[in-house]
Amino acid sequence: MNEVEAIKEKILHLKKQRDAVILAHNYQLGEVQDIADFVGDSLDLSQKASQTDARVIVFCGVHFMAETASLLCPDKIVLLPDEHAGCPMADMVSVEDLREKKRQSPEATVVCYINTSAAVKAECDICCTSSNALKVVAGIPEGKPIIFVPDRYLGAYTAAHSKREMLLWPGYCPTHQRILAQDIVKLKQAYPEAKVIVHPECRSDVTALADKALGTGGMLKYARESADREFIIGTEIGLIYRLRKENPSKIFIPASEQAICPNMKLITLEKVLWSLEEMVVQVRVPDELRDRAQKPVQKMLSLR
Ligand code: 13P
Ligand code: SF4
Repeated sequence: MNEVEAIKEKILHLKKQRDAVILAHNYQLGEVQDIADFVGDSLDLSQKASQTDARVIVFCGVHFMAETASLLCPDKIVLLPDEHAGCPMADMVSVEDLREKKRQSPEATVVCYINTSAAVKAECDICCTSSNALKVVAGIPEGKPIIFVPDRYLGAYTAAHSKREMLLWPGYCPTHQRILAQDIVKLKQAYPEAKVIVHPECRSDVTALADKALGTGGMLKYARESADREFIIGTEIGLIYRLRKENPSKIFIPASEQAICPNMKLITLEKVLWSLEEMVVQVRVPDELRDRAQKPVQKMLSLR
C-alpha cells in the first residue's frame, strides 16, 4: 500500500470512530474529493450539512462554508482542516461598512452571497448562492431597493438577468479575476466547437463571451446533459477534476491555468487526517450571533 492509500485508510477508519461525515467543495484537490462522502457546490453542501445525522462534519472547503454548516447544525462539531482556509472575497465586506450602507438606504433589502462571514450574514435579510441568486432576487417585491454583498460580478449578472436595479458592493473573487476575456477569445479560436461555461464570479466581459454562466453545480449538470463534446471552463481549476471524472469521453479546457484558489488548496489529505485525529479546527458561531445569522440562510433554504 502506498502512502496516500495508507492515509486514506486511516481517514476512513477514524471517520467511522468519530461518527463523522466528510463534505468537500467542488474546488478541492482531487484526492480530497475522492475521500469525501459528498462533493458539491455551496448550496448542496449547506443542504447536506443540515440533513446529516453524523455527530461531526469535516468541512473540506473554506471558512465561511464551515461556518454556514455550524449555523445550520449548532449541535454538531464542525471541523475545518486548515484554519487559514478563508475566502478573500468574504473578507471584503465588514459589519461596520455594511451598517453604514444600510443607514444610507434604510428601505433596502440586503441580499448576501453565501461567501460572507456569519457576522455579516446577521446584518442581511436573505442569503443566496451562485445557483439561486436569480430566484432569491425574484422573490423581493418590485420597486424595493436591493443591496447585494459582496460580489460585484455575481451582483451585476443577477441585476442584468432579473432586470432589477441593485446597489453592488465592490467585492470580487481574486481567483476568478485571473480569467481574462482574451483567454476566452484565444481558446474559442483554438476550439471553435467548444461551449464556453463560466462562473458568474468572473469579470463581466468574460461572462459576456460565455454560452452559459453557472455555479459549479450547474456547470456539472450542464456538462453531463449536453450533447456537446468540448467545453471551455471558466472557473477555479478544481472543478475540472470532477468534470473529467464524470464525463470521461468529453473534453474540458480550463479557461485559465491561473485560476487556482490558494485557500481551497490548503486542505490536503494529511490535514483531513490530522483534523479527525485531534478534532481540530472547530468552527462554531457564537450563540449570541447564531439566531440572526441563521435567518437569512434558512430563508434561502426554504425557497422552492
Ligand atoms: P459555487 O457555489 O458555485 O460552488 O461557488 C462557490 C465559490 O466559492 C465560487 O468561488
Ligand atoms: Fe473565495 Fe474565490 Fe476561493 Fe471561491 S474561489 S473560495 S470566492 S477566493
